[in-house]
Amino acid sequence: MPEVRNIVVLTGAGISAESGLATFRAEDGLWEGHRVEEVATPAGFAADPGLVHAFYDARRARLGEVVPNAAHEALARLDATWPGELLIVTQNVDDLHERAGAKRLVHMHGKLLRGWCLACDGRFGWAAPMGEEAVCPACDAAGAVRPDIVWFGEMPYEMERIETALRSCDLFVSIGTSGAVYPAAGYVQTAKYCGARTVEINLAPSLGSVMFDEVRIGRAGVEVPRLVGELLAPL
Ligand code: APR
Repeated sequence: MPEVRNIVVLTGAGISAESGLATFRAEDGLWEGHRVEEVATPAGFAADPGLVHAFYDARRARLGEVVPNAAHEALARLDATWPGELLIVTQNVDDLHERAGAKRLVHMHGKLLRGWCLACDGRFGWAAPMGEEAVCPACDAAGAVRPDIVWFGEMPYEMERIETALRSCDLFVSIGTSGAVYPAAGYVQTAKYCGARTVEINLAPSLGSVMFDEVRIGRAGVEVPRLVGELLAPL
């Protein structure tokens, strides 16, 4: 591995698959059982808030049944040890990176364990089922709380911070994402354009594999600890 100082890691649903959380575009994926338009758009929420709350309440409840896997733990080890800059950009809304100990982390698509009140614009932690009558802890309004998740057509979070990190990184690692959704799918191009070495770890070639300098096909639980070991060996 050539000289590395600043690292950006992008993760997708594939990093949480070995923990038992469903991905989106596999045969048994979340988008097989649900229409994206109905459960992951503002229009879908307006049309049937009960259906959307049921979808996210089920996913939120599932978090209590799973634990971080070796890939999350390896990234947390890298985070705790890496002397240069590091930013873990996750598209995932689960809390497995945090539970493994990651600190330098951004959730660009929001978090299952947060709520957003459309009456007062307050955002807050939310671990229980939300349902249509949830009461905002900030303004007491009932029925105006939605999941703090970025839906299709909405602006992802922390875009500036992510772009800045991409422009100054010399290693970009993409883990467990199909490369189907922008802006995340374009990050490899930004990193490459700015001179970074780009590595992909995925169970199967993604839509963006051709853009990577190196593609490591395999399970994140095996390949991420291996890559982190290579990065930490010289320290
Ligand atoms: N190890 C490594 N990669 C894996 C593993 C594993 N154990 N299991 C699955 N994968 C790979 C799959 O091959 C696939 O390419 O993870 C990828 C998961 O792709 P998606 O299901 O499309 O999930 P993701 O890329 O995170 O989706 C991006 O789309 O629907 C939106 O907002 C949603 O954040 C999500 C975004």
